[in-house]
Amino acid sequence: MKPIIEIKNVGKRYSIIGKKGGYVALRDVITENFLHPFKFIKSIFNKNGSETFWALRNFNLEVFKGEAIGIIGANGAGKSTLLKILSRITPPTEGEITIHGRIASLLEVGTGFHPELSGRENIYLNGAILGMTKQEIEKKFDAIVEFSGIGNFIDTPVKRYSTGMYVRLAFSIAAHIEPDILLVDEVLAVGDAEFQKKCLGKMEEVTGTAGRTILFVSHNMSAVEKLCPKSVLLSKGQLVMFDDTKKVIEHYLQNEYEKNIEGEKLFPLKEKDIIIKRFHTKQRNSKTTHLDCDSPFEVEIDFETLSDLTLFRIGIYVKNSMGDIMIRSFIADWKPELENIKKGNYKITLPFPEKLLTPGNYFIALNAGRFGIINYLAKHQIEKSITVGPSAHFNQAHPTENTGAKILIKNEWQIQTNELPH
Ligand SMILES: Nc1ncnc2c1ncn2[C@@H]1O[C@H](COP(=O)(O)OP(=O)(O)OP(=O)(O)O)[C@@H](O)[C@H]1O
Ligand SMILES: [Mg+2]
Repeated sequence: MKPIIEIKNVGKRYSIIGKKGGYVALRDVITENFLHPFKFIKSIFNKNGSETFWALRNFNLEVFKGEAIGIIGANGAGKSTLLKILSRITPPTEGEITIHGRIASLLEVGTGFHPELSGRENIYLNGAILGMTKQEIEKKFDAIVEFSGIGNFIDTPVKRYSTGMYVRLAFSIAAHIEPDILLVDEVLAVGDAEFQKKCLGKMEEVTGTAGRTILFVSHNMSAVEKLCPKSVLLSKGQLVMFDDTKKVIEHYLQNEYEKNIEGEKLFPLKEKDIIIKRFHTKQRNSKTTHLDCDSPFEVEIDFETLSDLTLFRIGIYVKNSMGDIMIRSFIADWKPELENIKKGNYKITLPFPEKLLTPGNYFIALNAGRFGIINYLAKHQIEKSITVGPSAHFNQAHPTENTGAKILIKNEWQIQTNELPH
């Protein structure tokens, strides 16, 4: 069988000037300067003096009809660059791409729609760009509007839409126009949980029943795992791994993520009056991001305050893979006197009981600041990704079932019975 997408040795070089030119989100600048300070400096002063770097390099991949492939990797890894090249928004600097089929892409919010046109007009425009006839679009029109939930706003120019409405409509069009290949980038990050579920359901339907091909970029590991049997791991523009999604996620969470935190010297992080020195999860006395559900674990933070501070707070949020905050805990909840903290070095540890989080992927976000005055981490979101493994007392019989449960209890059922003899 011939692949539907063939990517051979593809590379994309960007100029750093472009990066600074306002096109790139603040987050990119932070990621680049902060997570890769040396790479950034090195690439500025490279041998021939040109201020360029490779956002994607030596990338090879063959995708077959009906496959759903996840693309994962840290911020700035090159995921969106890859999808932009495939959807011809930007040409590759080198390499070759062959595509046999009609592509619909759903990239960052803002691409693909004409802001002055109404939702209705954009549906026709998008359909036409994808080579559909007016009749074909007309046939799908009601289904598109209905799925999007845009209702009466369909005749309003899309520039008046909220981000959520925009994404809903864009997703609905892309999913209904029956492309051979659907490229989806991070869409699920926007929109409410209900709509995210609907999108996932729709994508499953698209690959499952219609045999269409999907490339799906997301930071939401459980969504990738659910939708894509295989995934690509990108790191700094290079393909690190292409394998079963479970293996790829495991590798990413164990290695790549750790690299950003420690290998690339995120810590010590100095921000105004404070230096964050370490931040990690530990279980049975060793540092790990793969936690056993049935044992307690702890979060450890080492920091230094550079002067005496008032209204000080430091703590964490535990978020599920959808980004919902499950737990919030600050040191001042426990020791209010530490709101007035003295200059010095501190190591703080927060113990978590066993069997608290249901098996799955979570983020532990660090937060430090002075209440109402400053958030030290406003510019650098520090989120540690953790995986909670299966429990011996939770849905053992069907571990891959999506139970919908958000927290765990000990499940110590007391049973009284008066069993009758057979
Ligand atoms: N038009 C551009 N000009 C210059 N640099 C760019 C441009 N677009 C992206 N980059 C840079 O290329 C690198 C890869 O970016 P890309 O958007 O592909 O990352 P990503 O994996 O999608 O990250 P994220 O998870 O944050 O969305 C980043 O360092 C980014 O700053
Ligand atoms: Mg991206």
